[in-house]
Amino acid sequence: MSVETIGPAYSTRPLTAGTWADFVELVEANNGVWGGCWCMGFHPEGLGDRSSVSRNRTLKQAHVRQGTVHQILVFDGETCVGWCQYGSPAELPRINNQKAYEKELIELPDWRIGCIFTGKGHRRSGVARVAVAAALDAVKEAGGGLVEAYPEQVDGRGPQRGAYFHTGPENLFEEFGFERDRRVAKWRWVMRRRVP
Ligand SMILES: CC(C)(COP(=O)(O)OP(=O)(O)OC[C@H]1O[C@@H](n2cnc3c(N)ncnc32)[C@H](O)[C@@H]1OP(=O)(O)O)[C@@H](O)C(=O)NCCC(=O)NCCS
Repeated sequence: MSVETIGPAYSTRPLTAGTWADFVELVEANNGVWGGCWCMGFHPEGLGDRSSVSRNRTLKQAHVRQGTVHQILVFDGETCVGWCQYGSPAELPRINNQKAYEKELIELPDWRIGCIFTGKGHRRSGVARVAVAAALDAVKEAGGGLVEAYPEQVDGRGPQRGAYFHTGPENLFEEFGFERDRRVAKWRWVMRRRVP
């Protein structure tokens, strides 16, 4: 897939064997992300314990090699500064608040948006917005369908550090037309949107 220019500053590329090194650079510049999750939390294997940083990295790379990961990387020039992970429920089965989610589940979505991440020093400059836009474009290209996200509510609570929003802030998804479906935790919602 060719590099798609989104705006004056950022471009996006999928995470593949060809962009693995760029992803590694971003993760390592941010202490492995959450101390070494390597964005494995939503994948079938889930996260290992604190001693499993290299396991997480190896598993993530295996997904990239097998093509069982969908992840948009955002670039500022040639530097990878953020990502948005998305995929089918089979590819991303380990969402947070699983029990509460299943309690009122009627229909599984076609796609999930999992983790979103913007590197330190690049936040609040629209990287996550570009990443979500590109993920929705990729879903459209792949045939569209029902897309779910599991963001944190922003309104009605004090200012939160970006670190708490690993599934994104609700207002970001509202911008893209997602609507609340149901609450799964005090501050977390299932939000949905159909992509034609
Ligand atoms: C949450 C996060 C992804 C936001 O990324 P970002 O690139 O800074 O977000 P954007 O600049 O694109 O913001 C888009 C909109 O989202 C909302 N938003 C973003 N960060 C927010 C915050 N900390 N509080 C409230 N709203 C926020 C705002 O509506 C914002 O629009 P605005 O700046 O015009 O007000 C980023 O803070 C982050 O990466 N946090 C760590 C998450 C993490 O640990 N992920 C690990 C996954 S394995």
